[in-house]
Amino acid sequence: MVQEDYPRRFMIKNICCIGAGYVGGPTMSVIADRCPHLNINVVDLNKKRIEAWNSKDLTKLPIFEPGLDEVVGNTRGKNLFFSTNVGESIKKADMVFISVNTPTKSRGIGSGEASDLRWVESCARDVAKYAEGHTIVIEKSTLPVKTAATIKSILNSVKNSFKDTEKSFAVLSNPEFLAEGTAISDLENPDRVLIGGEDQDAIEALANIYKSWIVDEKIIRTNLWSSELSKLAANAFLAQRVSSINSLSAFCEETGANIDEVSKAIGLDKRIGDKFLKAGPGFGGSCFKKDILNLVYLSRSLGLDEVADYWESVLQINNWQQKRIYKKIVSTLFGNISNKQIGILGFAFKSNTNDFRESPAISICRDLLEEGAILKIHDPKVEAKDIEKALENEFSDIDNCNNKKGRDQCGYFVVEKEIEKTFYDSHAVVILTEWEEYKIIDWENFTKNMIAPSWIFDTRNVIDQSDFKSNNCNIWKIGNGIKN
Ligand code: UDX
Ligand code: UDX
Repeated sequence: MVQEDYPRRFMIKNICCIGAGYVGGPTMSVIADRCPHLNINVVDLNKKRIEAWNSKDLTKLPIFEPGLDEVVGNTRGKNLFFSTNVGESIKKADMVFISVNTPTKSRGIGSGEASDLRWVESCARDVAKYAEGHTIVIEKSTLPVKTAATIKSILNSVKNSFKDTEKSFAVLSNPEFLAEGTAISDLENPDRVLIGGEDQDAIEALANIYKSWIVDEKIIRTNLWSSELSKLAANAFLAQRVSSINSLSAFCEETGANIDEVSKAIGLDKRIGDKFLKAGPGFGGSCFKKDILNLVYLSRSLGLDEVADYWESVLQINNWQQKRIYKKIVSTLFGNISNKQIGILGFAFKSNTNDFRESPAISICRDLLEEGAILKIHDPKVEAKDIEKALENEFSDIDNCNNKKGRDQCGYFVVEKEIEKTFYDSHAVVILTEWEEYKIIDWENFTKNMIAPSWIFDTRNVIDQSDFKSNNCNIWKIGNGIKN
């Protein structure tokens, strides 16, 4: 909090964050809460999103995160503001965070692997145009290694083209390690804060903000490229652990071993640790796949083909796990799911979020629909319109399906508000997200209305076998080799 030690130009008063998404929104809310002396403007091109951030009813914020409503309630209108005034907010700012999305490129060089940096570039151009005086520019988005060099080059060349000698910039990398669903507690109590840069004064100006609530020992200072690479590496390592345990889940099913027992046994080794060892339908979310693809692309560009192949295999296992689950469902239901109703519990890529980006539910549902299944999909937080968008409306109603392919070829889905309704007349119910509400289902009652021989596929191992007192139904649990 104490800023006296810093030269005047590094005393931060006004912050602008470009991008009011899953990272920018919660991060700035927590900084505003912990640093009442700072004024924070979060800007976004998406007017609707900004309106949602400003909605009076805090349950209508654009993203669902436990604890976010409280932090926004404490700060919004006091020192935290959401708007679409990009230029004006940059103008006032001593520090600008770039927190826009960096999806995988879908066209051109690096298509399908490299990050699409068009929005980062346009942010850098906006900062160069509107900034006044000295501005510290911070990469919050996850970016390819060496992007800071691009940002610097844009800032300086645009500045020179305006012949503006008053403007100056420092560029830092400060990747965000928050996980969705626990974003607020991750921000309030992070394992570490990483700041990469060359300009020591700028690094300390940013560190000083975090020191308002985080001890200095947890604030790591590195060079720019180490910081950029560390973010990609952290996500790649986490994803690799999920693929490792998922690969062994299949092994367990073939041999009679139990994946939860194996996870516990290996996780108790302090060198391995017990986190990220939960088998499931494969990892989703906006980061893991995108960041590994990026790492693969960068490795190949550097001529490191073996390194690229190594990380690519993490993604291959992830795709394979999703396909494997869909095939298991089809083969268990006698190789035919055409016109058979199947309940789907969970569409979010993990619990406690309404985010469904890259959710394994998308590919598993699409494969089941391709086989002709009728899906009844429930999720406590993902909205029906988002589920429709994710499944691309292709299977959204029976008329559409009939028109398109003929009824016996193509399935369709409906979104259910009540969990129980996904069981009525279903041949199977598949748990794809580990929501708390799915752990306390009254199995005996709910499964009564299913069509025999009925099946529950628990791809998250949320069901405690001793709670599953259903005589009507069979159960398949991921990585559980004990045959029914
Ligand atoms: C973040 C990071 O920034 C990304 O690099 C990381 O890998 C994942 O997390 P996230 O906050 O999840 O992205 O993205 P998203 O929820 O899509 O939010 C980005 C916001 O930036 C959107 O609201 C979008 O409208 C906004 N945006 C994008 C701008 O305001 N200006 C632009 O030029 C581009
Ligand atoms: C991840 C990183 O954890 C975070 O540090 C980074 O900033 C952004 O990317 P996030 O994608 O929000 O966060 O969620 P995370 O908890 O990492 O889960 C990612 C996926 O892996 C989810 O689909 C989750 O269900 C899956 N997972 C995770 C498992 O299947 N098993 C596990 O043991 C852990």
